[in-house]
Amino acid sequence: MKQSIFKFKALALSAVFAGIAFSGAVQANGAKDGTMSMPDYKQWDTFLSGIEKKSGHIRDIYINDIGAKAQKGQPFANGTVTVMEIYGASGTAGSMTKGELQKVFVMYKNAGNGKHAPAGLQTGDWTYSAFDGKGNKLDTGYDGCRSCHLPLTTADYIFHYDKYFANR
Ligand code: HEC
Repeated sequence: MKQSIFKFKALALSAVFAGIAFSGAVQANGAKDGTMSMPDYKQWDTFLSGIEKKSGHIRDIYINDIGAKAQKGQPFANGTVTVMEIYGASGTAGSMTKGELQKVFVMYKNAGNGKHAPAGLQTGDWTYSAFDGKGNKLDTGYDGCRSCHLPLTTADYIFHYDKYFANR
C-alpha cells in the first residue's frame, strides 16, 4: 500500500494534539523502502549544505520540523524526514559550482518501518526512497542505501549527526 509522508505527518500531529500515543496508531502500517512521496522540503531547516564530493557533486541536506527538534545525543523522533539533494558540480574542491539537481534521496523514520527491512539490513525505523532531479521515482534497489548507513548505530544511522549538533 502506498503511503504519503504527509498523511503520516498529519496523523502524527493530530495524534500529538489529541494526546494519544501515536506510535500505536501507525505501527500497523510501517512504510516500505521506495514508497514515499516526494516531500515539499524546500522550506525545511537545513541540516547541512554545500557538501562537496570529489566525484563532482554537491549535496544539500534538509530536515523537517519533527527532526529539527531532536536534541544532541538523542535519536530522531518518529515522523522525522530528512532529504538530501545531489547536484552535479564543476570546479575543484573548496570552490565547486553547483550544476543541475540530479537526485533527491529521502529517509523517513516511523514506528514499524524497520520491520520491512531485509534481514541484517535494519537501520532502526528508517526507510529510504529516491527520486531523480525532476521528482520521478528512481527505479533502484534500497539495500545499498541500507548497507552504507548501517554502521552508524551511535548516530541514529545519520551521517554528519555530530556536525549537525555542533552547529546548533
Ligand atoms: C556509498 C555510501 C552511501 C550509499 C550507498 C547511500 N548513502 Fe545516503 N549518505 C551517505 C553519506 C556519506 C551521507 C552524508 C552526506 C555526504 O557526506 O556525502 C549520506 C546522507 C544521506 C541522507 C541525509 C541524512 C544523513 O544521513 O546525513 C539521506 C536522506 C540519504 N543519505 C539517503 C540515502 C538513500 C535513499 C540511499 C539509497 C538510494 C543512500 N542514502 C545511499 C552515504 C551513502
